[in-house]
Amino acid sequence: MDIIIVETYDELSAKAAEIVTSAVKQADRVVLGLPTGSTPEGMYARLVEMYREKMVDFRHVTTFNLDEYYGLSTDHPQSYHYYMRYNFFDHVNVPGEQINLPRCGEGEAAKACREYEQKIAGAGGIDLQVLGVGVNGHIGFNEPGEYLRGETHLVDLSADTIEANSRFFTRLEEVPRQALTMGVASIMRARKILLLAAGKSKAEAIKKTVSGLITTKTPASLLQLHRDCILVADKEAAALCSKA
Ligand code: F6R
Repeated sequence: MDIIIVETYDELSAKAAEIVTSAVKQADRVVLGLPTGSTPEGMYARLVEMYREKMVDFRHVTTFNLDEYYGLSTDHPQSYHYYMRYNFFDHVNVPGEQINLPRCGEGEAAKACREYEQKIAGAGGIDLQVLGVGVNGHIGFNEPGEYLRGETHLVDLSADTIEANSRFFTRLEEVPRQALTMGVASIMRARKILLLAAGKSKAEAIKKTVSGLITTKTPASLLQLHRDCILVADKEAAALCSKA
């Protein structure tokens, strides 16, 4: 894993946007895997700026989001559909028919997950997968545990994640308990991975992510097996890494 440590969140966002735009410029058709959350907000803002300054064009880009809450309407302000429109898609020229997020009606999760994987494969696989990391080391919503699932699936969110996500909802009871997420195999099949981490709350997870040990208790540690994975972390997130 290549590790780039930067001073500030702005630098992290600029570096992430630079890596994404360089992937976007590399081919006639490019497939991006995209995260939501606080970490990539600055990256999306920078990408929107670069688009406005005509430094990048997204017409030939297809996107697949990592995950989405189960049972939350796509218009809910905390849904990842809403987040992506608000932070990115409403401001750039990715064609609507090339935008994909996992979603399903009640009782349709297994079919929707299968179809999501088929659609990713049909698009030629993911060229660049951008990831954030949970305080508990999750990637997508692949939560720490005895086992990890390979393919896109419906997952029960861990108590840690529900607690971490409650900052976006008025009450803890409103936080969805389940989500659809790409699995670790879906993520690892991407040709290149960009992992972003900012702030001291991520320091422990990042330490375990780069430690040399691989465990399902820290799903992000699996990324050490990927041939082309870059971690961009700010100083606080990298504070406990011996390589810092
Ligand atoms: C979001 C996702 C999650 C987040 C992680 C970090 O699509 O897949 O794994 O990347 O929970 O979230 P933030 O950036 O809000 O700390």
